[in-house]
Amino acid sequence: MEKVQIKLSPASHQYEIEFCNLTMSGAWAKQNLPEAARKTVIISNRKVFNLYGETVKNSLEKVGFEVFAFLIGDGEKYKNFRELQKTLQFFSEKKLIRTDAVIALGGGVVGDLAGFAASIYQRGVAFLQIPSTLLAMIDSSVGGKTAVNTAFGKNLIGSFYQPNGVLIDVEALRTLHRRELTAGFCEAVKQGAIASPQLFNQTADFLSNYPVKYFRKNFSNTTFVTDLRRLLAAQVSFKAEIVVGDAQESADRIDSRSRKILNFGHTVAHALEKVTAYKYFKHGEAVGYGILAAAEISKTVAKFNQNELKSLNDVVKLTGSFPSAANIDVNEVIKAFAYDKKQAGNSLQWILLDSIGKPLILQSENIPSRVVKNSIEKILRK
Ligand SMILES: NC(=O)c1ccc[n+]([C@@H]2O[C@H](COP(=O)([O-])OP(=O)(O)OC[C@H]3O[C@@H](n4cnc5c(N)ncnc54)[C@H](O)[C@@H]3O)[C@@H](O)[C@H]2O)c1
Ligand SMILES: [Zn+2]
Repeated sequence: MEKVQIKLSPASHQYEIEFCNLTMSGAWAKQNLPEAARKTVIISNRKVFNLYGETVKNSLEKVGFEVFAFLIGDGEKYKNFRELQKTLQFFSEKKLIRTDAVIALGGGVVGDLAGFAASIYQRGVAFLQIPSTLLAMIDSSVGGKTAVNTAFGKNLIGSFYQPNGVLIDVEALRTLHRRELTAGFCEAVKQGAIASPQLFNQTADFLSNYPVKYFRKNFSNTTFVTDLRRLLAAQVSFKAEIVVGDAQESADRIDSRSRKILNFGHTVAHALEKVTAYKYFKHGEAVGYGILAAAEISKTVAKFNQNELKSLNDVVKLTGSFPSAANIDVNEVIKAFAYDKKQAGNSLQWILLDSIGKPLILQSENIPSRVVKNSIEKILRK
């Protein structure tokens, strides 16, 4: 089975991402947690816990852990202070101590909130991630960013906190909703596009060999499961490489391997989510539109060529169908950039492509605003 090592410094921040079955989670936890760990709290939501909670709990109990479960509400709106506070209260009631552990079992919402709770409870307790969505497996569980949302914006309060280990069981994707798969694959295409022609082609080949609409049925095919695991391991390795090189996303770096490049497609994606009040698109679907818009801009202001643009369009199409963006006003989208702008010190940084695998970061002042407008318009009207 695949393993990906995250070689951060200091060495105490290093950990492994292990691809194995959920029934192994007890033995895996034992291996990755401090010897003194006795209690574990699984943080999940009802939907995911009903599907996989008992398997994980039994496996942990079998190796001697005392196991508690705390379930938060399902959805982005529960990634908030109230739920965080209830989670911390639960740790206190169960008398968790510094050597005990928190285990996130779920998608990015659960992972971000559980990670943040683990990072601040008693100034940090051990933390394990068992991501259960495609997005969480290839993106949010790797890299140590944790957060909750506030009324002022998403992910405004959080910490960098590396887990002690991540377990990925690809079989858990069997139950994931079709739209969540599409959203996750859009992030995979994003990572392929900025990483290398190799990762891009591996992602494209996987999607053309195994259409997303037959995803569930394909689990009876062992080659599919092996290819899926290999693809996710390659995706995770790429994200790990970027994170190791720029763990805390240095504000002043603008080179092609800075952590910022992971935001390829996200300027437009965040704006699309904002103008639709975060209710219409799944984040990854908005990223699908966003990477096409950024690629279109790249064709005019960078060296990105027509053939590569076509391949990118074709691969995004393979991830599945998207909610229509035909009625979205492009001027509203551009206005919504204001938020990302503030985050970057009042100047927007665009992640563009010179070619597949060669991202570049450009200040918005260096891109004519009509190019931005026309490119977004073209993508939304497709
Ligand atoms: N920390 C990071 O670096 C980072 C990176 C990217 C995204 N994020 C965060 O991740 C969050 C999005 O994560 P997400 O896309 O996983 O969404 P999510 O956690 O809301 O999960 C999506 C849906 O799938 C359900 N689900 C989860 N696993 C399932 C399974 N195996 N079978 C059936 N249903 C399942 C969930 O209950 C939920 O309804 C956002 O809050 C975003 O800010 C964080
Ligand atoms: Zn994203």
